[in-house]
Amino acid sequence: MQSLFDPHLDPSERAKELRASIRHHDELYYKHARPEISDRDYDKLLSELEQLEKDNPELQTLDSPTQRVGGSPIGEFRSVTHSVPMLSLANTYSDEEVLDFDRRVREGLGIDDPQYVCELKVDGVAMSLTYVDGLLALAATRGDGQTGDDVTANVRTIRSVPLRLTSDCIQTATVRGEVYMLAETFLEINRNAEVHGEKSYANPRNLTAGTLKQKDPKSVAKRELQFVAYWLDSQDERLTKHSENLRTLASIGFATGEASRTCSNINDVMAFISEWDEKRFDLPFQIDGIVIKVDSLRHQEELGAVARSPRWAIAYKYEAKKAQTVLNDITLQVGRTGVVTPVAELEPVLVAGSTISRATLHNEDFIRELDLRIGDTVVIEKGGDVIPKISAVVLSMRIDGSSPWHMPHTCPCPRTSTLHHPEGDAHWFCDDAVCPWQIRRRLQHFASRDAMDIEGLGDKAVDQFVDAGLIDGIASIYQLPERRDEILVLDRWAPKSFDKLVAGIANSLKQPYARVLFALGIRFVGEGVAKILARAFPSIETLSTATLEQLKAVHEIGDSIATSVRDFFDTADNVELIESLRDSGVQLSSNETEVQTQVFAGKTFVLTGEMTTMTRREAEENIGARGGKASGSVSKKTSYVVAGANAGSKLVKANELGVPVISEEQFRSLLSNS
Ligand code: IVH
Repeated sequence: MQSLFDPHLDPSERAKELRASIRHHDELYYKHARPEISDRDYDKLLSELEQLEKDNPELQTLDSPTQRVGGSPIGEFRSVTHSVPMLSLANTYSDEEVLDFDRRVREGLGIDDPQYVCELKVDGVAMSLTYVDGLLALAATRGDGQTGDDVTANVRTIRSVPLRLTSDCIQTATVRGEVYMLAETFLEINRNAEVHGEKSYANPRNLTAGTLKQKDPKSVAKRELQFVAYWLDSQDERLTKHSENLRTLASIGFATGEASRTCSNINDVMAFISEWDEKRFDLPFQIDGIVIKVDSLRHQEELGAVARSPRWAIAYKYEAKKAQTVLNDITLQVGRTGVVTPVAELEPVLVAGSTISRATLHNEDFIRELDLRIGDTVVIEKGGDVIPKISAVVLSMRIDGSSPWHMPHTCPCPRTSTLHHPEGDAHWFCDDAVCPWQIRRRLQHFASRDAMDIEGLGDKAVDQFVDAGLIDGIASIYQLPERRDEILVLDRWAPKSFDKLVAGIANSLKQPYARVLFALGIRFVGEGVAKILARAFPSIETLSTATLEQLKAVHEIGDSIATSVRDFFDTADNVELIESLRDSGVQLSSNETEVQTQVFAGKTFVLTGEMTTMTRREAEENIGARGGKASGSVSKKTSYVVAGANAGSKLVKANELGVPVISEEQFRSLLSNS
């Protein structure tokens, strides 16, 4: 490196050369991400210049790269008025809104296909830079758009902000852009903060904003902030197009975001938007959308602004239903049937209005397919079912030294029983009959709304009672009323809540046999299957003694359900549980109405319109209990259409097909006669 220069050169010449060389390397590094020399060689150049300026103070200039971190800590940030107000952009969230924007632009200008420029909307902090005589004179935050804070000393430390413009064609200008932070820098700073027990930051934008408000430029310099320019205003050149401005900005020393694209019509804009919806997660920094700008500056002026937003530009915001976050850990959840499911423990992240910190990972195969590793940055999506899922790994942000995840072979509960993995099954199981984690889940399921619906015994209460050793299995729930004194000493328990619990337990004795079957938590026996079983085997005796063949003979009962039911009743602990439930008075057979009501067998009902005396679910339960089927669509095979108030197309179709239509009242009388 140094051999390029003559060390005996006049110090002033040498200083000039060093500065030019350092600027050149800054530009390669920050603007083009293509460094040509090592960090070490760069530091050598910088320290040679520092030494030279120290020995010859008269050589020091304000724009010298040694002066990025200068001066003493700032007391208060001075308020400054923007010469041109800093506008913000109106947001859009759908293709239609973008097309509306295009329509307004076309109508406003009276032309067919205005040219647009699309840019990435970097998620950082807006900054306005003022250059006078080629030198950076002021850096100000947006503030309220009219006045902002003078943060010049801090912004001088950002190496992608030129202290002197690199071309003479422009000397006095206002340059606007975004100060931001690379995701990797953000992660590193947060990791350090955690190690030192300091508070971590929610996202790169917050950390950037916090950094710019630091009082000591030296600590700002360490944060490695970046700057991308997206706006230029100068009297020095005749500027006609935004796309030309971006090129000019690049020629005077700024990074302008290489992704920007000139689009000759709105279809090209749409293509750009969808292209970056995928690619955005591969960027080394976060963007939250795309900015669409009318290219012609004359057209921009013609369109003007409304309130605080220009009419010539708009932001398209990407779905907030997606977000990126860090996978802190993978833990195991043990279900009530012993299925062990890996769960993602995430750095909490806001997705469509709620904070997500956990997501199911289903099984080991799912993790292997994504090659998910602890420490990875992942994409979280909230689908239509609102259950958050991990949809991708951001490989560009993978930390060094991470390794693939493997399923542990022991249960996470204190008993650490060995897990087993049946051939051909994606899941792992804990077979330990007394696994406390399974028991807890089984109790919670038993008491839950759709099962025994025990008021006063929510998930938290189950946790409390298990922890206090008051319950260790389903049967012991019915002993809880006798443990008044022990319960009343627990947190949040009072005589009133205890009485409610006792009443809840008593009420659960009225739950029909089908619900009890579901509540037992037999693998593969969901609500629907429980009803089928209760109908085919109207008492627990007939069910528990049914052979595999008898079980499988029932329509809709296949191999796995039949085997699971048999396994359940062949387990001694379960036989004991049933006896104990019988003693407590739990319903273990269908009552008379349930038994005699197979009158709807083979009949299909379609419910339509609003019902007033029962809910749709109740109506469906009643149909099912009598052996009938409730369907969503009308066909020739439909036996009855039950039409409530405001029935629509299904009623029309029933009339067309000649399907009998009955009222809610007639339906009720069918029920009471059966
Ligand atoms: S143009 C009048 N271009 O998004 C034009 N803004 O609400 C104003 N931003 O405050 C801004 N990338 O902080 C523009 N390529 C880009 C941008 C961008 C990020 C930010 C900026 C602005 C906010 C819009």
